[in-house]
Amino acid sequence: MADAASPARTRVAIFISGRGSNMAALLYAAALPDAAYDVVLVATNDPQAEGLALAEAEGIPTFALSHKGMSRADHDAAMDEAARKAGAEFIVLAGYMRILTEGFTRQWQGRMLNIHPSLLPKYPGLDTHQRAIDAGDSHGGVSVHLVTPELDAGQVLAQMKVAIRAGETAESLAERVRFAEHQLYPRVLNDYLRMQR
Ligand code: GAR
Repeated sequence: MADAASPARTRVAIFISGRGSNMAALLYAAALPDAAYDVVLVATNDPQAEGLALAEAEGIPTFALSHKGMSRADHDAAMDEAARKAGAEFIVLAGYMRILTEGFTRQWQGRMLNIHPSLLPKYPGLDTHQRAIDAGDSHGGVSVHLVTPELDAGQVLAQMKVAIRAGETAESLAERVRFAEHQLYPRVLNDYLRMQR
């Protein structure tokens, strides 16, 4: 496997809020010899986030700071400082369920990606799977996009469609969409980082 400190790799920080399955997919993809990035930090706004324990077990530096009782700007500033201290060049949002301040998104514009569980521009925001089912869509899916100040509206880098079956529930669709996410996100991140060089 590749040397984790390889200088040819871009240093990325992953932000999570929960389970961290996309974080896990990104971490293990970074262990492949031809990966374009190293994960130098996993940061979260929820000290109880399930993904945090996995990152720690895998020896990745972590930063956890609850947003509760803090202004959005102060919390973003603390996350920004943690990412910079870790030497991150890019931020990868992986189920980070916080709306970011305009200042933060401008600081990282072009260097911050997000994964969203719908075929954008359809269904920005929450409850994406239920909204796709309720609309009678034949497919849900996932989008990887650049983050801009407007929520879920930055340039889409790639999408993957996931069929909606008869009798589908939001939970069953979410589970299958996650399989698609785990394929798509590391691939798109690798391709995007290589394009930036
Ligand atoms: C993923 O499905 C991701 O697309 C979604 O949260 C889930 C996180 O799962 N993100 C958003 O809804 C962002 N608006 P994970 O913690 O298992 O990676």
